[in-house]
Amino acid sequence: MNKNDYRIRLEERKDYRAVENLVRESFWNVYKPGCAEHYVIHVLRDDPAFIPELDFVMEKDGRLIGQNMFMKTIIEGDDGRVIDVLTMGPIGITPELKRKGYGKAMLDYSLEKAMEMGFGAVLFEGNIGFYGKSGFDYASRFGIRYHDLPEDADTSFFLCKELIPGYLDGITGVYQTPQGYYVKDEDVEEFDKGFPPKEKQKLPGQIFD
Ligand SMILES: CC(C)(COP(=O)(O)OP(=O)(O)OC[C@H]1O[C@@H](n2cnc3c(N)ncnc32)[C@H](O)[C@@H]1OP(=O)(O)O)[C@@H](O)C(=O)NCCC(=O)NCCS
Repeated sequence: MNKNDYRIRLEERKDYRAVENLVRESFWNVYKPGCAEHYVIHVLRDDPAFIPELDFVMEKDGRLIGQNMFMKTIIEGDDGRVIDVLTMGPIGITPELKRKGYGKAMLDYSLEKAMEMGFGAVLFEGNIGFYGKSGFDYASRFGIRYHDLPEDADTSFFLCKELIPGYLDGITGVYQTPQGYYVKDEDVEEFDKGFPPKEKQKLPGQIFD
């Protein structure tokens, strides 16, 4: 990868199907046999929490190779305040170009744009190995807890980055995943029938059945 061989732009309506296909390819068999993320983005684009100004695609040699998107959500502060924050994802890079730096370029560009829009912090579930390189830390270090988990649960998957330094100072509370991310398996199955057949495989490293 070099700095000039890709372009990042906003997703347009005409890209929707191609982006869903890209996301399907990118997530297929990674976290479970098959994936739901292509249906998740399909649903999220119609969600009131969706931010069209932060819905990006990456192009290289005239084809789509990556995407990333953000949603508005909240932290319910322990003192009763409601703090507006962002969540992010899915983010995906086409399988044959993974681990070449495109994901980080996509991530850093979109975080920069979110910062320019004045958002204060981004929180989501992810792997610190990738996101740590773009300034994310464990959300627990900011005093933010993940919803619906027991006190002693491992929350190392739950990450946070302040876009405005000090935005979360003096705040403790519970982060809420936007409802739009929760999709029904049967709806995913139905939606997936509109794509080319693809074999679901149980593979080592998957975190869901
Ligand atoms: C995760 C994903 C977006 C990362 O994009 P990418 O282009 O493959 O990653 P990059 O090449 O930009 O990696 C940047 C750095 O993070 C590291 N990294 C990337 N993916 C990683 C992973 N899964 N685990 C640990 N470290 C990772 C790389 O080693 C690299 O570090 P380096 O520069 O020191 O070598 C991409 O691999 C993907 O689409 N995966 C499938 C879908 C997915 O899991 N999305 C994220 C859901 S939270």
